[in-house]
Amino acid sequence: MDPSSLNENRLYPSRSPVFFLLKGILLVIALFSLGTLPCRAQQQQPIIDMETLNRLINDKATADAAFVTGKRISEFCSNCHGDKGVSVLPEVPNLAEQNIHYLFRQIELFVHGGRRNEFMEGLMKFLKPEERAGLAVYYNRMKAVPTGKTYPETDKLAKIRFVQLCQRCHGPHGRGDETIPRIAGQHYEYIALTLHRYRDKTGERLNAEMTNNTHWLTDKDIEALARYLASMK
Ligand code: HEC
Ligand code: HEC
Repeated sequence: MDPSSLNENRLYPSRSPVFFLLKGILLVIALFSLGTLPCRAQQQQPIIDMETLNRLINDKATADAAFVTGKRISEFCSNCHGDKGVSVLPEVPNLAEQNIHYLFRQIELFVHGGRRNEFMEGLMKFLKPEERAGLAVYYNRMKAVPTGKTYPETDKLAKIRFVQLCQRCHGPHGRGDETIPRIAGQHYEYIALTLHRYRDKTGERLNAEMTNNTHWLTDKDIEALARYLASMK
């Protein structure tokens, strides 16, 4: 990737009529496709551009330029993922302070067909590699804001399950690490849906570690865990 290209103001010329038209069309398509997504098998292994990722992590100038690109494009993303990276739609994940490696990898999975969501796949394929990298930097640098939702009915079972099965990778506060996602404060609905998908191997997301770790969970465990994680800060 050529770092000088990160500053180009190419995609959404600021607030032109074309911008609003495009935004409108994409949103209509998106809203129709949410919830009616077909289950298809994973077809291809993703290719992560580690060189780009390392430069974004280690080279401040490259990362700063990427941030500017990401910020510009995020205006569109904020329709669903929120201005502060905290989504207002329960089945749309929060992105603020999500780990950069995880963000970049998920974006590339959408591009290469390793994670299935018709809208997100189309959107990510439409963006240029440096724009996708910029979005990962942008959301990674945002501060996570707890959704403020707590689920006081969370039972003891959830905490036991979390410590038994989840903590060793996602950390005691659910914040993950370089490659493991932050799950603390994520929306209840999104977490529950995602855990069902891993456990039942429905095809939208295939990940051996998560399938193994959700294999023995009952529907009740999943609900309890989702409430517990959504209440975490
Ligand atoms: C129309 C709503 C919508 C818009 C606009 C949108 N997204 Fe998404 N995004 C979603 C939904 C829904 C998911 C969850 C997909 C799934 O798992 O089925 C998602 C998932 C993601 C994920 C994975 C997060 C995780 O925790 O695994 C990333 C990263 C992401 N979007 C980035 C973006 C970026 C960057 C943009 C703007 C370029 C954008 N999205 C625009 C709805 C949207
Ligand atoms: C061996 C390490 C490991 C363990 C143990 C583990 N996870 Fe994960 N988890 C991961 C990885 C890696 C991913 C990213 C998978 C992918 O790319 O789809 C992930 C993804 C997730 C996601 C999706 C996050 C998002 O933003 O979409 C949720 C929710 C989650 N894990 C919850 C849990 C829960 C709950 C448990 C315990 C029952 C658990 N995990 C146990 C490694 C682990």
